Formats: sequence, C-alpha cells, structure tokens
Amino acid sequence: MLAGDFGAAKQKAIEFIFEYGTALNAPYLVPVSSVAGGLDTSKYSHNYYKKYGMDALFSEFNLNSSEKVEIPMVEVQTVTTISLTDIEQSDEIGVDKEIHDYCVVSEEYSKAKGMHCLFTCAPYHSGLIPTFGEHLAWMESSAVIIANSLFGARTNTESLESAGASSLSGRTPYWGLHCPENRYATHRFQIDCTVEHDRDWGLLGYLIGEIAQENIPVITGLEYRPTFDELKHFGASAASSGGVELYHIVGITPEAHTMEMALGGQKPKEIIHISEKDIKSVYKKLNTQVESDDVDYIVLGCPHYSLNQVQELIWLLNGRVVNPSVEMWVYVPYTIKLMCERQGYAQTLKKSGVRLLADTCAVVGNLAPEGTRYVATNAAKQAHYLPSVMNVQCFYGSTEDCVEAALSGKWKGGF
Ligand code: F3S
Repeated sequence: MLAGDFGAAKQKAIEFIFEYGTALNAPYLVPVSSVAGGLDTSKYSHNYYKKYGMDALFSEFNLNSSEKVEIPMVEVQTVTTISLTDIEQSDEIGVDKEIHDYCVVSEEYSKAKGMHCLFTCAPYHSGLIPTFGEHLAWMESSAVIIANSLFGARTNTESLESAGASSLSGRTPYWGLHCPENRYATHRFQIDCTVEHDRDWGLLGYLIGEIAQENIPVITGLEYRPTFDELKHFGASAASSGGVELYHIVGITPEAHTMEMALGGQKPKEIIHISEKDIKSVYKKLNTQVESDDVDYIVLGCPHYSLNQVQELIWLLNGRVVNPSVEMWVYVPYTIKLMCERQGYAQTLKKSGVRLLADTCAVVGNLAPEGTRYVATNAAKQAHYLPSVMNVQCFYGSTEDCVEAALSGKWKGGF
C-alpha cells in the first residue's frame, strides 16, 4: 500500500496513518473492523467543495493531501457520523438551501464510496455493534466512550483525517486505548448518594468528566443498575466536560468484573467521593445563566434517542399537545425514525406537535427555531455547548421537566 500498489489514495491514506503512528511511537499498525467518520460537511468545506469537487475535498480534509487523488471504495465498514440537516425537512427547519444541497451531494458521494450513511452519533442503534476487543477507528466522543466502555472494543477518539485515512487503509496505529495496559482505571469514584434517573446520570457524567479529564474512572457504590440509555447520557456528559474516552463500573462494564480487574491490580491514584451536594452543584452550574423561566425550544435526543426513549416520551406526553409558544425537536438516527413510523410513534408525536428529526442535532447543525432564546434539554452535552454555539440560554433537567416545559412554556424543573 505504501509503495502505491493499491493506488494513489490508499498510498496517501497509509502514509498518513504511518506518520500518525510514528509521531506517537506506535510499534505497529492494527487492522480496524469499522470506522465511524465520513466527510466534513462544515460551511468551510462546503466552499472548498464548490471550488474543487468532492475528490479534492476528501483528499484535503480526510487524507491531509493538497494533491487531489481519485478516491476509491472504502477498505472496511465505514459509517457516517452526524450531518448538518435532516434532508427530508431542511426547508421546515430553516436550513440554508446551499447547505441542504451540499449534504445531498455528500450523501451520494459517501454511498458511491461504499460508506453506510447512518449519519448518527449512536451507530449502535443502527446495527453497528462492535464485539469485545475489536479495534476501531471512531470519531465522535459519545460513540467512542460507549464503544470502549460498554462493548469493550478499542478505539481512540479519531479525527476526520485519521478516520478518513483508516477507512481507505483499514489500519490505525497501535497506541492509546488500543493497548490493554492503557485501559486500566486510574481514579476511583465512590458514589455516596442515589443516582436514579437520566438527569442524575447526565450530572454525574459531567462531574466525573470535569474531575477525571483524560484519566480513566472506575465507579463504585451504585445502588442500582443503570440502563443502556442512562449510560449513554453519562458517557456523553463525561466526554464533554472532560476528555473521558473509557470508564469502568465494577460488576457492569466488561473490563471490570472486579475492582482488581478494572485497576489492573494497581492502587487508584486518587479516590474521590461523590455526594448529592456535588451532583447538585453541577445542576446549578448548568442552570445558572437563565434570566427568565420562559422556554422556546426543547431539545431531546443527545446522544440520538433509541426507540425506547421515544416510547418513554410518548408515555410522558400522554396525548397532550405542546404549547404553541414552544417547539420540541427530538433527534434520532434515521433507522429509529423509520421504526417510529412503523410503530406509529412518529404519527403520535406529530399529533402532540413534536418534530422528529433524523441524521442531525441542534449542536452540530446549529438548529433552532427562529428567534429561540431559551432552550430546555435533558442532555448535559447540549447544555454545555448550546449557549456558546448558538448564543442561547439553557435549562437542564429530566425528561419529565422538559415535557412539562413543552406543555406550559415555562421551566419548572428543580433539584
Ligand atoms: Fe450526538 Fe449531537 Fe449530542 S452529535 S452526542 S446529538 S451533540
């Protein structure tokens, strides 16, 4: 590949991976079984595409090559991460026509190169479930932390360039979380309070992320077993307030059957006790900057919702209709949207005035109804990013709190 026997693009790809590994002192490369990445669909790359075309865009943005090369089919299973719009509703949600057209072209190009157009940060809801010990090259921090922690697969958080190069070369450098010796917990978090629903799991993740930063937490002391969806909230939060890519929960996650196994026989560098007061302080931090109790826009589905979470929302709404002054947008993978239509959930949500959107999200697509000032969300990651990304003020709370805000137009949540 390096000698160019498989074409110029694969040569560029393996050169990039080789340099990446050399810089990190990786002893060798490993084959990856899947890549989560895809094309850059930012406004900046859009201008580049208009000037030079898609192959040049992929060469520059995914292979770090200013020389344009013809891009072949991907070497390994490659799925696209989140996009800037739901192309079936671009007009209704106010997405610029140029961006919409660019996303359409980008999707066609990705399909032609053999990528699977999942356009989600939750590829595991669309059938991409890695097995224990598999090497991956995934982007998107909320997906990476799930792949490492809950599936026991091995991936670092890749960039657009390294994921693109892995999709064509099928390789990644053996470093970081690919190496078993780097996967042991370093910091123990002892939970001394009850953590019992999505709001608390988001807060706990946010708090642990802030403290752990790029270290590896092991969590002990939980009173009950969290659901997969609660752990989705937890992981996405820990990866946004800090850089956590892997955590362990003794008795729950696959590399932590016991404390000794999670720590690799070592002592933790630190033992941190978490109380209800600590969790409450994060709640206050995520809710401090709101000057009114009005709510204009509710954001659910970060990370992208599962079918079960959509059903829970329908139960909470219980046939009631969203206040006319509020927009409630729920973000899901396209496959879940199709299942929602099959189950009748999409139709039920529509009757309640809720918009179901696939392939995108508020933060990545900068999506909000015109004039939005006050957002409510059950996702700490959205509450973390939206104020700076979209210049809005944000309430954070449970799904129940968000539903009540959608019905009344007022935030009544609390801790
Ligand atoms: Fe996914 Fe967007 Fe949240 S990419 S994790 S829904 S910020």
